[in-house]
Amino acid sequence: MTEVLPIETPDALKDPTWWRHAVVYQIYPRSFADADGDGLGDIPGVVSRVDYLASLGIDAVWLSPFYPSALADGGYDVADYRNVDPRLGTLEDFDRMVAELHARGIRVIVDIVPNHTSDLHEWFQEALAAGRGSAARERYIFREGTGPDGAEPPTDWLSVFGGPAWHRVEDGQWYFHNFAKEQPDLNWDHSEVREDFLKTLRFWSDRGVDGFRIDVAHMLTKDLTEPLPSREELTLIPIDGNHPLIDRDDVHEIYAEWRQLFNSYDPPRTAVAEAWVASHRVPRYASPESLGQSFNFDLLEADFDAAQFRRIVTENLALAAESGSSSTWVLSNHDVVRHATRYGLPPEPADSTSHTRHGGDWLISGGDEALLDRERGARRAKAATLFMLALPGSTYLYQGEELGLHEVADIPEEERQDPTFFRTGGAEIGRDGCRVPLPWTADGPSFGFGASGAHLPQPAWFSQYAVDAQDGDPASTLSLYRRTLSLRHELQAAEELEWIETGRDDVLRFRRPGGWQVVTNFGTEPYDLTDLPGDAHVVLSSGGPAGSSVPGETTVWIAPVR
Ligand code: NOJ
Repeated sequence: MTEVLPIETPDALKDPTWWRHAVVYQIYPRSFADADGDGLGDIPGVVSRVDYLASLGIDAVWLSPFYPSALADGGYDVADYRNVDPRLGTLEDFDRMVAELHARGIRVIVDIVPNHTSDLHEWFQEALAAGRGSAARERYIFREGTGPDGAEPPTDWLSVFGGPAWHRVEDGQWYFHNFAKEQPDLNWDHSEVREDFLKTLRFWSDRGVDGFRIDVAHMLTKDLTEPLPSREELTLIPIDGNHPLIDRDDVHEIYAEWRQLFNSYDPPRTAVAEAWVASHRVPRYASPESLGQSFNFDLLEADFDAAQFRRIVTENLALAAESGSSSTWVLSNHDVVRHATRYGLPPEPADSTSHTRHGGDWLISGGDEALLDRERGARRAKAATLFMLALPGSTYLYQGEELGLHEVADIPEEERQDPTFFRTGGAEIGRDGCRVPLPWTADGPSFGFGASGAHLPQPAWFSQYAVDAQDGDPASTLSLYRRTLSLRHELQAAEELEWIETGRDDVLRFRRPGGWQVVTNFGTEPYDLTDLPGDAHVVLSSGGPAGSSVPGETTVWIAPVR
């Protein structure tokens, strides 16, 4: 049913400011829903669940990569940017998904991975075949090695996933890869690379896609003038816009060009940067001349702690004001331990070297149940989520958090997929535990994920978290998310937030326009609510009914009577 391109955005979805306060639900396509029963989630699977997505009350979905890929890094190794992995469907399926979501008022954001391609991408295959000194190698970062016969890598740099950042090819040259060796970095000084990504952005925009999430947006441009610094020298270079590898000012020349392309559509396509940069550098990515919005991962990195949460909110609202963007908030995604689990674990030691944020050490120890307080984690997660959803700005939710899902710790070694696990010889357990396929039904094969198995093993306890076990139960986490998202539309009428002092260092309270108030009790002692004006009352609680006090580890929303 391919429509004539470019596909028109439905009139109901033309508000150009929608992204400022949107709730975006992240779908990790290979683990969402499997329509053809091959164990791998797919695009028809998403189509089969559009009513579920609509029932959540979200504004948009963001799909992690669904492109052809050998899955060396869960799809972030893209072999063809303008296609759908045949195991996940076809472009026609994609068009159908966009139409079905749009018909339900849900926008679509896709993931763009511009820092590196898959080693199976036709450009890289061409580069390997063409040999040293060829034009084809110019699109990547090839160098001669050092030492006798060039048998040593050009530098001692490490990849983000562990191990060396250079890999030697058959003819003896080396190529640079910030991530896995199957993810060679592109050379963004090359005009063909720039032109090809413009083509890709146009391709998806023409298919009706509403926005883009830009993978490692702070790494694209590099200054690899010889002599290259050593790893140690690299750490001494300030990251102030001129660092050879990270957060260079010149990356915004690329995004300025992309912005022109985005703005040529009606409504303009949106973009959000995945940029792990110092706070004061975030506004560059979020400015209207650049990508327009940037992820803020501060809450995701914080403990369940009032002082940390307050500082993060204040800082990020100021940063958003500086760029003219709105802030983003996120507690879970496909790269970190789920927040229900993080909050149920003892705080990670300050000297932990684990990259699997908060919970990495617990995972490495085999997910010791004695250390995890599941109920407490779930209680705090709901409190943190209701706090986050009451903040001005847009919120990114990760599939399964609306079910209160915990991390899956006990994935057998032979079933692990994350390159981090392999590249660190198991020292880093990796991110598979948050990517286990969703439970839709309490029984049946793969808990309703598909007709047969799931590509990562699902634990027996998934049964009690299944969608059909929670649907219709007013006390379930799923019902709480639905209620919260429906009320949020009223609360987000404007973007202001004003703190109300509580006299307690473990209780945060703030006012939103229209007479709304939100209280989060991070401690365990109840917080008295006797000072409410007569016409205000609690309309939402993360922890069951709240009367004249807010119980420990609970958030309430207070509405004025109209
Ligand atoms: C960030 C993505 O979120 C992560 O999953 C991926 O491994 C890296 N970028 C590399 O593309």
